[in-house]
Amino acid sequence: MTARRPIGVFDSGIGGLTVLHEIRRELPHEDLLYVADSGHAPYGDKSSAAIEARSLAITEFLLAQGAKAVVMACNTATGAAAALLRACYPLPIVAMEPAVKPAVERTRSGTVGVLATRQTFASPAFARLLERVGTGAEVLLQPCPGLAERVEAGDLNGEATRRLLARFLAPLLKREVDTLVLGCTHYPHLTPLIQSLAGPEVTVLDSGVAVARQVRRRLTEAGLLAPADRPGRERFWTSGDPSGARELLARLWRVDALLQPLPEEVEADATAELLGPRPLLSPT
Ligand code: DGL
Repeated sequence: MTARRPIGVFDSGIGGLTVLHEIRRELPHEDLLYVADSGHAPYGDKSSAAIEARSLAITEFLLAQGAKAVVMACNTATGAAAALLRACYPLPIVAMEPAVKPAVERTRSGTVGVLATRQTFASPAFARLLERVGTGAEVLLQPCPGLAERVEAGDLNGEATRRLLARFLAPLLKREVDTLVLGCTHYPHLTPLIQSLAGPEVTVLDSGVAVARQVRRRLTEAGLLAPADRPGRERFWTSGDPSGARELLARLWRVDALLQPLPEEVEADATAELLGPRPLLSPT
């Protein structure tokens, strides 16, 4: 039955688990497939072409597993490749949008800060978002190179992560932002730390709940909501080191989470595209 097919979700790594949690809460009967592309993280410093190639390869893999919809649980991949995936695949593709709109609506100081990757800020999709909703307040953009890597390393509260975050937050707090938008799905893993560094007066927003509701809406419209006949299940794949990923999944999801290495052809196809045409061998 079509509606029983799973929802495919992917991110450059474990960041998208923050979105997966909200999808599970919103849709308890759906089967969920999750690809952590940790072997290619971070996406934030990669070219758009490289991110497009990874997004296409992973989407093909999810479709081969029977996915009825795909969630890009990654702001960086959304900025680089959502338009392409939507043009290529006639199924619901749900993507991220940093919570700039609610931030602008709720700020009292008139200044909000956005934390995201360089690639997200550089994307035309983000420029359009700012044009559409960013005019009601001063919106300060803070790229956070290295922060997603701290999360991938499982360091959610250690000294290195704390120092890096304090450095990124300092200029924003100096400008008296009262609302912080987490525009990268890795960062909600750090919400307690961000909140403690920013102080109780600052509201921290992310878009996990909004995206989960959007998934429900799109499935409902398409007549694809799973029947409420049993609890949904999850399966995970990683392109990174499976033993490290297993440890993180046990901490961030469940100890008995079903995790497999991402098959090699997903790697090989995309790597070929990333490297471009093979160089001609020089005669010996
Ligand atoms: N989790 C990704 C995002 O939402 C990016 C992290 C990375 O740079 O890979 O933007």
